[in-house]
Amino acid sequence: MKPVTKAVLPVAGFGTRVLPATKTVPKEMLTVVDRPALQYVVDEAIEAGIEHFVFVTARGKIAIEDYFDTAYELEDALERKGKTDILDRLKSKQPREGTMSFVRQQQAKGLGHAVWCARDIIGDEPFAVLLPDVLIQSEHSCLAQMMDAYHEVGGNIIAVDPVPDERVSSYGVIKPKAGADKSQKLIPMDGMVEKPPVAEAPSNLKITGRYILQPELMSLLKDQAAGAGGEIQLTDAMARLMQEQDFHAVRYDGQDYDCGSKLGYFEAVMAFARDHADIGAGAREMIQRFAKG
Ligand code: G1P
Repeated sequence: MKPVTKAVLPVAGFGTRVLPATKTVPKEMLTVVDRPALQYVVDEAIEAGIEHFVFVTARGKIAIEDYFDTAYELEDALERKGKTDILDRLKSKQPREGTMSFVRQQQAKGLGHAVWCARDIIGDEPFAVLLPDVLIQSEHSCLAQMMDAYHEVGGNIIAVDPVPDERVSSYGVIKPKAGADKSQKLIPMDGMVEKPPVAEAPSNLKITGRYILQPELMSLLKDQAAGAGGEIQLTDAMARLMQEQDFHAVRYDGQDYDCGSKLGYFEAVMAFARDHADIGAGAREMIQRFAKG
């Protein structure tokens, strides 16, 4: 079983659901308490043992590259002012040189196409995909929980979470194998479908946006036809790979927030503020005050 050391982060989207905030700021760089949303996703992946990040980016998203670079003037100014605690915090978030790659998705053809744009860097190794719209708050990082499952059963691993019936049509949804116990943490699967009408949904287990995938997926993505929404869907290529390889779903422990929507983003800010080491107590008091009206 080859280790999973590389992760693909598709960050090319326009962020249309949170315009005008995303007109000049990439949606992945929107602040959740004191750091960009993207930093939480990178931290989740580092906790899971990821050593190399492939960002699939696009025009107008240069702030992402700059964020992960050294800011000489800033660091020098902090040093001279003796603000070593802030400097140390800044440096602790700085990835090592050579551990980040940036590739461009030149046409907005969908998530499957974005992942395929990383193929040359992934090569013939298994890889993780993390959708940075989704932040997951958990004790043990969601991707780390999936790595545990990968070490147990190998193959392809998909993070899932139950959703109310009225929301299944907004997500990719998995089909557990006949007879599989849907309440278990690890569920063998034999199908998945992107954004099905509720009447056709094979379960209420949505795909959350965390994947461990085998490299053979890349050659399927190459000729994947457009699917739901006229886009090349990752879900459709995974459903094809399932004819040849094992897929398991992991019901992770944790809470996910969709930062691609206004309400989901607001919920993420509240959740991470509530549990923040410095401002948690104040935030909890504030949330209670607002709840009282
Ligand atoms: C994407 C995936 C979908 C998944 C969702 C999770 O959809 O295609 O399978 O359930 O992310 O957020 P999108 O939200 O980009 O339309």
